[in-house]
Amino acid sequence: MKMTVLYHSVTGNTKTMAQVIAEGMMTVAGVEAKAFPIENWDAAWVKESKCVVLGTPIYLADLCSAVKVWLDGPALKAGLAGKVGGAFATADYLHGGGDLGIQTILNHMMVLGMLTYSGGGSFGKPVIHLGPVALHGHLEESKELFRLYGQRMATKTVSLFG
Ligand SMILES: Cc1cc2nc3c(=O)[nH]c(=O)nc-3n(C[C@H](O)[C@H](O)[C@H](O)COP(=O)(O)O)c2cc1C
Repeated sequence: MKMTVLYHSVTGNTKTMAQVIAEGMMTVAGVEAKAFPIENWDAAWVKESKCVVLGTPIYLADLCSAVKVWLDGPALKAGLAGKVGGAFATADYLHGGGDLGIQTILNHMMVLGMLTYSGGGSFGKPVIHLGPVALHGHLEESKELFRLYGQRMATKTVSLFG
């Protein structure tokens, strides 16, 4: 089963964490996951994916414009309706707006007809809430959480579509 992680990244933080999520997805049997920069995504792969996760760096306590532009344009023709959707962010500060950016992406996904999911607190600790946020300079300590997030997204998707 194909799955996608799409991200925008200028200085590499969001790219690094996108790849960790894809690795986590691939710990689930039968899952093939790929991470793409949002500027160079594979439309055929996304169309065939049952789960699409979007990653943004936080700009001005919100999602970045590149991800918003993708949601307002290409996403409308990407066949996202009915797929499982999730979002993650990287930021400089704990109070920098990670949750706000994630929530905005989840709102857009719902309007596009996606089934938004994170697992939240349903697995106990670590609790993921809306989606994972990693902080610049502290990526290493968040990698296990991001791997787990990818695994939880993939497990739910396989349970729905497998
Ligand atoms: C224009 C701009 C605005 C930013 N605004 C915020 C912000 O409001 N809150 C925050 O925590 N970090 C902010 N940052 C920091 C980035 O979100 C953070 O460094 C992120 O990890 C960068 O991701 P990247 O390495 O994938 O490009 C901002 C960075 C830029 C360039």
